Amino acid sequence: MMALAKTGDVIAVESPVYSGILQLAVSLGLKVLELPTHPNSGIVIDALKKALPQIDLCLLVSNFTTPLGSCMPDENKKEVVKLLAKHKVPLIEDDLYGDLYFGSQRPKCCKSYDEQGTVLWCNSISKTPAPGYRVGWVAPGIYKEQIMKLKLAHAISAPAITQEAVANFLKSGRYENHLRKLRQILQQNYHRYADSIAKYFPEGTKTSIPQGGLALWMEFDKKIDTADLFDIAIKHKISIAPGRIFTLQNQFQNCMRLCIGLPWTSNVEHKLRELGRLAKSML
Ligand SMILES: Cc1ncc(COP(=O)(O)O)c(C=O)c1O
Repeated sequence: MMALAKTGDVIAVESPVYSGILQLAVSLGLKVLELPTHPNSGIVIDALKKALPQIDLCLLVSNFTTPLGSCMPDENKKEVVKLLAKHKVPLIEDDLYGDLYFGSQRPKCCKSYDEQGTVLWCNSISKTPAPGYRVGWVAPGIYKEQIMKLKLAHAISAPAITQEAVANFLKSGRYENHLRKLRQILQQNYHRYADSIAKYFPEGTKTSIPQGGLALWMEFDKKIDTADLFDIAIKHKISIAPGRIFTLQNQFQNCMRLCIGLPWTSNVEHKLRELGRLAKSML
């Protein structure tokens, strides 16, 4: 974002969108354009088409985005890359959930349709082995020089020892092994979390149906404000992510994101039952 935009530029993003992306864009003085996003197929292409004349940069979490869990179908990825390239708008593709698919194959990334080098693809191991290593990577396309200069100015380089440890882990095949187990666990988790929501939450609660990743998006009756639910739940040692942290607009007050990454235990089920009871008490 720092390499590709300057203060006052307009960045188009999905909506709802990961709060860290909003914080970063705002801190750089960018104007954020939140575009309608479908919980299954991601950004709505017609909305992006209409916005094209006013945007300078686009950032998409193409696979299993947080908080929605959506994954752009291949044909949408192809069309978005073509559209943006035609209008000379760079695309930052944040693909750090792509390895966490529940199906039989990793979904493609927008980068695989990039003929002009205008997609800057990012990934890290933060959502797979652990966030603490702070190791990520980028396929920068035609923006390589800008990225290298910025990295040099900010940090000279990332610590070699952690990069090497991660590289060895990736090379050895153990990463693939780890991913196979993790994907299975997350898929089982998804079913368990979804079953508990159906059992314990107010009737009419809607949930997304992610095909991978760590996030489940929930929508309640309008009477339930999830910022209030957060305040009540935290007293019961339950932490949720209220919908409004994923937008700069006045929306998603009756929505929340549930992380399905916690290992399933009787305590997790107990806390979900408790959360459902608290939500019901707000109706
Ligand atoms: C969409 C998205 N991008 C980036 C990040 C941060 O990733 P990292 O720890 O690799 O900086 C997160 C973490 O939650 C995320 O959800």
